[in-house]
Amino acid sequence: MIGVAVMGCGVVGCGVVQMLIKNKEEVRRAAGRDVAPLYMLDIRDIAAPEGVKLTRDVNDILADSAVNVVVETIGGVGAAYDFTKRALESGRHVVTSNKELVAARGDELIKLAAGRGVSYLYEASVGGGIPVLHPITRCLRANRLTGVDGIVNGSTNYLLTQMRDQGVSFPAALGEAKRLGYVEADPAADVEGWDARRKLAILANACFGSRFDDDAKIPTAGISGVTEADMEAAAAFGGAVKLITHARLSDSGDSWTGWVHPAFVPAAHPLYGVNDVFNAIIAHGNFVGDVMFYGRGAGREPTASAVVGDIVEIARGVSPAAVPPAGEAPAFSAADAPIRRLARAASDARESLERLGCPVRPCGDGLAFLAPALTRAEFSAACQELNGLSEPLYVLE
Ligand code: HSE
Repeated sequence: MIGVAVMGCGVVGCGVVQMLIKNKEEVRRAAGRDVAPLYMLDIRDIAAPEGVKLTRDVNDILADSAVNVVVETIGGVGAAYDFTKRALESGRHVVTSNKELVAARGDELIKLAAGRGVSYLYEASVGGGIPVLHPITRCLRANRLTGVDGIVNGSTNYLLTQMRDQGVSFPAALGEAKRLGYVEADPAADVEGWDARRKLAILANACFGSRFDDDAKIPTAGISGVTEADMEAAAAFGGAVKLITHARLSDSGDSWTGWVHPAFVPAAHPLYGVNDVFNAIIAHGNFVGDVMFYGRGAGREPTASAVVGDIVEIARGVSPAAVPPAGEAPAFSAADAPIRRLARAASDARESLERLGCPVRPCGDGLAFLAPALTRAEFSAACQELNGLSEPLYVLE
């Protein structure tokens, strides 16, 4: 029997316990033995199903030899880090959906797990219910993976979809989403792009073998500055605004670059049709080409599905430990790479824009235009000549 303790019983933690109970038979068949939730740890007053012990003390869990797997769904890097470390040191496998902890301390925790002959698995940390990290690190491993693009934050994708379809402003869409409970009470990590940035660091580790050092180095802009006029500009060019995570490995393979930014996604791009809380990730391999993973990127049941999938992996002995990156890991480079942008300008800029070769469309009482690929410095210099430029969207190609 595999005994499971769930630490942190919010939306995802409770979903894990529910799935282990509801899908008991499916999980038993997949795992080859019974998998039972034994403990739920939380500082709040919560109700536990019959047969599951409630505790506020991690020592109760660590003292019970029937617990083989600890699920960490506390979130953050405080108690979650401390309890994860103690669980691994005590020889328990740990499964998590906590992208913040993986992005911040992943190398250390993977190494610690490997040293103890146990696993630290985190499939649920990117893309909610979408299987993406295991397929990338197993099925695609023989490829040289050179790029990854994605929509990896469900809340912001939902907000952008509402803004486009209902024609509402960002504050109005956010207010309604809060009222419906679709976003966190404090949505800063989602709307400012930090959640997507952490997931990008995890994807870069899976694709390129980069280390988890400091995801704050990745240039990041969220969606709080996206306006109705940006939506209009994107529509004028036949596309939509999405919060995109983007990473590329350098030709030499010794560095990678990336960003999280609101982007213009043309209708022909496979990420254009990814709406609401859905997520999608496209990885590029030198033999396989583009591979797209699509599904529900957030929510109790999809995320629980990924966590319980990892518990089954452990039960089957498929993943004794996540593999720490071998050899020289590519370093993150914040190089100011050229990129195309979609921006807005006043109507009197038309002549200058056409002279620069920019496709131009009417947008509101001004213009929208597609700039050629320019570095940040080059784009700023070009903007000096054109008064009234908006904060541009990046263009996803
Ligand atoms: N807040 C996250 C999102 C939850 O909206 O994508 C899933 O990681």
